[in-house]
Amino acid sequence: MTKVAIIGYGVVGSGLIELIDKNREKHSKNEIVITSILVRNKDKYIDSSHREVITTSVEEFFSAESDVVIEVMGGLHPAYDYVKNALLLKKHVVTANKDLIATFGHELFQLAKENNVSLKFEAAVAGGIPIIKPLTESLYGNGINSIQAILNGTTNFILTKMNSESLSYEEALKEAQDLGFAEANPESDVMGYDSARKLAILSSLAFDKKFQWNDISIEGITDIDENDFKYANKLNCKIKLVAESFKCKSGIYTSVKPILVDEQSILAKIDNEVNAVILNGDEIGELLFVGKGAGKLPTGSAVYSDLNDIINNRFTDVDSFNKEEANVIKFASKTCNCILRIKTSNIDEAINKCRENFNNIKIIDKSISGEVAIFIECTSEAYVEKFIENLKNEDNYEDAKKLIVA
Ligand code: HSE
Repeated sequence: MTKVAIIGYGVVGSGLIELIDKNREKHSKNEIVITSILVRNKDKYIDSSHREVITTSVEEFFSAESDVVIEVMGGLHPAYDYVKNALLLKKHVVTANKDLIATFGHELFQLAKENNVSLKFEAAVAGGIPIIKPLTESLYGNGINSIQAILNGTTNFILTKMNSESLSYEEALKEAQDLGFAEANPESDVMGYDSARKLAILSSLAFDKKFQWNDISIEGITDIDENDFKYANKLNCKIKLVAESFKCKSGIYTSVKPILVDEQSILAKIDNEVNAVILNGDEIGELLFVGKGAGKLPTGSAVYSDLNDIINNRFTDVDSFNKEEANVIKFASKTCNCILRIKTSNIDEAINKCRENFNNIKIIDKSISGEVAIFIECTSEAYVEKFIENLKNEDNYEDAKKLIVA
């Protein structure tokens, strides 16, 4: 018998409990018994078949017998204190909490090691896609060169709906919230922080170094409007929030930003809440992982698989979060092709400035009054950023932004 205590009974918690109940036969030799479920408001669970073990008391929760504590409440606090307490009590811990692992991973894995227990986190990145196990186990013989991924279901859902159904940003976000994809505070999703936390976790495992998620160059999707989709379509591209990291000479380039990807590319075909991770290993070459990155049962399935590993004594040591800190590079020295959207009362002047600064330019659209969209080819992203910065000093300038074309 394995005694399990669960913190949180929201979207992921209810998915996990559904799977525990559904798979009882598979575990008939080693029954899973839920001994306690910690929630904020007991009234919501009056009809649950597990209502007998539901509690709002932290003390009562930790005094219930358990072999494994599963944290699916999300957020940093009080999840951090609960997980720390569970590890100190020598319980194995399973968590779906990317904020927690990205922020306190180094401390929590150390604590797990000191207490001779396992801390597992498959559901923390890319929902239902098994990606932590491949990186920590299956690909052990490889050095990873690069990660390119869509790691946030909510933003991918919003971008898909805005493009294919012409939904407004607000309508698409509301739908993602109703479907249980978004965070309690969806700012984490739309500002790109959630993707950055997940990228930091994957990068840590892939490059065996410690990453601070807020060292990553992050741009969310809040500035994307219908004209961006119009320009992207003119170039036969789709807009995706891409999380990327790869080895370069002086360190590891990492970024999360909206990027125009060719509509024939793999990432362009990843729609709605689906996530994708493309890994490049030095021995295996390219690997692609695709699946639902958010939602009750996909994420519940990843938590359940960690629980199953613990029940079957399959433990993996994770020490990457305690290794030396990565030298994070924000601007890669590689070609940067992009669309520049310049708002100005003197469009000809803006076009001339682009001509003076870039070798190849192509005007994409001038149909919106006071705005020009220009495709430019440049040798570095830093140079484009500097160009945009300098435009601010021009008399007729109103606003400018770039959209990178992969
Ligand atoms: N809000 C997250 C997402 C949930 O949309 O991807 C899964 O981590």
